[in-house]
Amino acid sequence: MLSSVSTILLGLTALIPAVSAVPATAVPRDDTAGKQQPGTLPLPERLLYHWPNGTWVENIAVRPNGNLLLTTSTPNGTVWHVKKPWLAQPEVELAYNFDQWVDRLIGIGESTPDKYIVVGSRFYSPDPLSSQVERTFAAMELDFTREPPKARLVAWFPEAALLQGVAALPWDRSTVLISDQYVLRPRRIQQDWTPSPGQIWRLDTRTGKYELTMTDYAEMNTTYAHGPDVGIDGIRILGDQLYWVNQDTGGIHRVQIKKNGYPVTPRAKPETVAKVDTELWNDFAFGPEGKKDELMWVTGFNNIYAISIRNGSAVVVGGAGQSNNETYPGPTSCQFGRTDKDKNILYVTGNMAAIPPDLEHIQLGGWVRAVDTTGFHF
Ligand SMILES: *[C@@H]1O[C@H](CO)[C@@H](O)[C@H](O)[C@H]1NC(C)=O
Ligand SMILES: *[C@@H]1O[C@H](CO)[C@@H](O)[C@H](O)[C@H]1NC(C)=O
Ligand SMILES: *[C@@H]1O[C@H](CO)[C@@H](O)[C@H](O)[C@H]1NC(C)=O
Ligand SMILES: *[C@@H]1O[C@H](CO)[C@@H](O)[C@H](O)[C@H]1NC(C)=O
Ligand SMILES: *[C@@H]1O[C@H](CO)[C@@H](O)[C@H](O)[C@H]1NC(C)=O
Repeated sequence: MLSSVSTILLGLTALIPAVSAVPATAVPRDDTAGKQQPGTLPLPERLLYHWPNGTWVENIAVRPNGNLLLTTSTPNGTVWHVKKPWLAQPEVELAYNFDQWVDRLIGIGESTPDKYIVVGSRFYSPDPLSSQVERTFAAMELDFTREPPKARLVAWFPEAALLQGVAALPWDRSTVLISDQYVLRPRRIQQDWTPSPGQIWRLDTRTGKYELTMTDYAEMNTTYAHGPDVGIDGIRILGDQLYWVNQDTGGIHRVQIKKNGYPVTPRAKPETVAKVDTELWNDFAFGPEGKKDELMWVTGFNNIYAISIRNGSAVVVGGAGQSNNETYPGPTSCQFGRTDKDKNILYVTGNMAAIPPDLEHIQLGGWVRAVDTTGFHF
């Protein structure tokens, strides 16, 4: 999800040797046939839509009807609707601008069917270096069960440092968990690099009441392993486990939670699912359907990884480290399709127009791509 430009900066320098992930044991490329076999790396992909320069596409949710909802962090805090993403040229339109409450959106997650919680804040300017204005975070709802969709403020979050991912509790989807961590104190000119603790909020979207369920865990904190990166970023719930990625450490962790969203024991020790020391994780998805317990797909710095949940093996399936090394500039999030037509398709969002030649020339430009994971196996 959100990474500061300092993250990008560090990413560029730190990640050049990062592409030495576990080699793929996927089906070898069949050069003679002229057509790629399913599952061959890099996985086949296509561009669905490219937003104008200056647009930062940050996070994705897939509607029950298969349409995609994407949030933007610049120039505005908006949600975009990508209709029938399996078509050659899907229709793309602005669904909602949250400017009444925020300038920037970060996470989006479905709560009850076809209702979405988005999080965001005001920020000082729409350039990538700008940070949020202190005490302006909010969680809002976008309700697609009505036509046109209707938005409401659910809660202000003045205590939040930087709200990131949103994950509904499977046992009560009106309650969501939200990750939170930042290393730059909000201010117009950033000077204070003291990290905030990595933590998890629990929000009841009916009442707007919220509280911390986890804080002060090393696995959620930044340790400046890569420099001033955020710690906890994307979160998702699978079964009774809360999973998260730590951008700063390259760790992927989980902890068992109770039906109320709290860890099973108050200071439960999180497990490490996988770790790629050099990688800057952003967000992830489980799937495809039927393989959710086996495979997770994680957006790295300029690439996409498949990770075995069972043994932590990690392989680059596209982008830096594969032959299509310039295909995924600044990937931010991913989710699988929800219809029979696209259940093996991983939709990936990103925020850069191109992989920058150097740190001074980062050009924001949001995109969404469809990656065909059919046939992939370790
Ligand atoms: C931000 O959104 C507003 C309202 O929809 C629009 O008028 C404005 O042009 C947008 N800004 C940019 C830079 O696109
Ligand atoms: C997590 O980070 C916070 C803020 O820097 C710090 O106060 C706390 O001691 C850290 N906790 C652990 C377990 O590392
Ligand atoms: C991608 O790979 C090509 C061929 O090895 C190389 O010339 C190019 O510089 C690489 N691009 C990036 C952004 O690393
Ligand atoms: C958008 O940014 C890319 C990458 O920097 C650049 O190649 C392209 O010319 C830009 N397009 C416009 C319309 O500014
Ligand atoms: C991890 O599991 C996959 C498939 O289940 C297997 O192919 C791979 O060899 C395993 N890797 C390690 C390091 O055990």
